[in-house]
Amino acid sequence: MDLKSYFDHRISQVDKALESVLPGESTLPASLHKAMRYSIFAGGKRIRPILMIAACEAVGGDPARVMPAACAMEMIHTYSLIHDDLPAMDDDDFRRGRPTNHKVFGEATAILAGDALLTEAFILLSNSETSRKIDPEIIRRVVHIIARCAGSLGMVGGQVVDMESEGKKIDFPTLEYIHTHKTGALILASVQAGALIGGADEGVFAALTRYGEAAGLAFQVADDILDVVGDQAQLGKDVGSDQAREKATYVALLGLEEARQRARELRDVALTALDPLGESAEPLRSIASYIVDRSS
Ligand code: IPE
Ligand code: IPE
Ligand code: MG
Ligand code: MG
Ligand code: MG
Repeated sequence: MDLKSYFDHRISQVDKALESVLPGESTLPASLHKAMRYSIFAGGKRIRPILMIAACEAVGGDPARVMPAACAMEMIHTYSLIHDDLPAMDDDDFRRGRPTNHKVFGEATAILAGDALLTEAFILLSNSETSRKIDPEIIRRVVHIIARCAGSLGMVGGQVVDMESEGKKIDFPTLEYIHTHKTGALILASVQAGALIGGADEGVFAALTRYGEAAGLAFQVADDILDVVGDQAQLGKDVGSDQAREKATYVALLGLEEARQRARELRDVALTALDPLGESAEPLRSIASYIVDRSS
């Protein structure tokens, strides 16, 4: 399939939906809404919303119904990036091809813009329009999955161990913990939310869970590789910052070739998980390969 046109089409739908749900630049406090919109609309691959849509399609669901949850996920992801770039964390200057949020708006506003994006996500998931589109019990399960994957047992937990591991020699299980949590968790939640909203039965939900786990970990392994071999302009963010901060990465622990091999193995695990699904899972299959082969 033509993944590029699939992505272009989905990105424009997601961007349109984000535009309609985020408070405008002149809404008070204008400085805060400007900062939130600055990072959300800076570009970005929108891989999490696209995965949610693709998972919904894979189980025969209507992609339009996942849009509120897809936007909520992109808001949570963008908040995680704003905070990840702060001086207290990775201290990076570029993101999505622009100066990082705190460089433009200052640290206090960047922290608060992240906080507000996280909160907005749950407003969106629980508002009356979303309730009209999705069965209340499904919304409850989606909110629970997303919150759990974003919190201390998910992304935030992974970020804590990532920070605590800087400059240390860590073992492989700890590295895997960091990656499955700081990055894998939101990707898994995206796939699971899409599957649930699409009406997946238990067996298919379990298969898509295996897909989401493998794809989520593969995504961060590829991110580690791109920090070493990627092109700064293409990536839109600083390269070489992992080595500079002595981060625990697959490349640091296993070397470049073994990291690449591991990413390919994870892609194959993700593809095998999709075996019970038919033609409708084609976008998810293409995305699994893209995650490993991407250059941005
Ligand atoms: C970057 O995520 C941070 C990680 C979790 C690896 P993406 O590579 O999805 O960043 P955007 O959304 O395209 O900017
Ligand atoms: C990011 O990991 C994980 C989250 C933002 C939650 P990285 O620190 O490796 O992401 P980049 O490389 O800055 O995008
Ligand atoms: Mg980081
Ligand atoms: Mg970072
Ligand atoms: Mg990185």
